[in-house]
Amino acid sequence: MHFSNFLTCTLLSGVSSGFGVLVKRASLTKVSNWGSNPASLNMYIYVPSTLAASPGLVVACHGASGNAQQEFTSTPYATLADQLGFIVVYPESPVGAWDATSKASLTHNGGGASQSIANMASYAISTYKVNTAKVGNTMAGVYPDIFKSAVIYSAGYSGNIRSMYPSWTGTYPKVQTYLGSLDTIIGSSSFNTTLAAWASVFGYDTIPDTVQQNTPVSGWITYVYGSQLQGTWAVGVGHPVSVQGAQDAKWFGIA
Ligand SMILES: *[C@@H]1O[C@H](CO)[C@@H](O)[C@H](O)[C@H]1NC(C)=O
Repeated sequence: MHFSNFLTCTLLSGVSSGFGVLVKRASLTKVSNWGSNPASLNMYIYVPSTLAASPGLVVACHGASGNAQQEFTSTPYATLADQLGFIVVYPESPVGAWDATSKASLTHNGGGASQSIANMASYAISTYKVNTAKVGNTMAGVYPDIFKSAVIYSAGYSGNIRSMYPSWTGTYPKVQTYLGSLDTIIGSSSFNTTLAAWASVFGYDTIPDTVQQNTPVSGWITYVYGSQLQGTWAVGVGHPVSVQGAQDAKWFGIA
């Protein structure tokens, strides 16, 4: 999950205008009664006017002091959803920060925030007949049964990811991480610690197969460990790294 320090609240309307032309746009909608919600989170959803036949799903978690509307307006996911026909779920933590560290949240069906979020994904999957191969988020370690790919912005993992869901025997989601070289909140050492934690999940060693300079942004470096894992070192960037929506859509398999 990525943590940002923005606190921007923008009022939304169902119609957005650009260059004097009114473009009919779907709106961000609050969903109630979507399922068991042990962490008392809110669920918002963006369903584009034109949905792909077998749509993908992106679960976009806001920053530590943000909210669903801020995530909706400050990231490119909704615009990409209009273009590509996928669904975006925006979970919202009423207290801002996410519980991403308690035992409940780090255990499959442990009754934490991650379980509430997984249940939101399940609701969207069944309601909109989502292609279950195209479901991406950041809770991948605990719910590999739901999330097939993850992009982790400016956050760190350590320890044994498989122990979060010991009985899981299927494939793990593919993981892309981003960390800014100037990020003092997470700290530079987390970059390789996180990649090492995921490398062991996939049976990879911790030596990158390729090091791609200027990828995906000029000056940034992407380390590729195998088809399931890569990490991008965002040189000159602080906290958080801004969402690379088009890259994410490719990584999630929906572009
Ligand atoms: C992470 O590991 C790579 C490859 O082993 C190394 O070149 C790089 O300097 C490390 N990055 C950080 C931020 O420690």
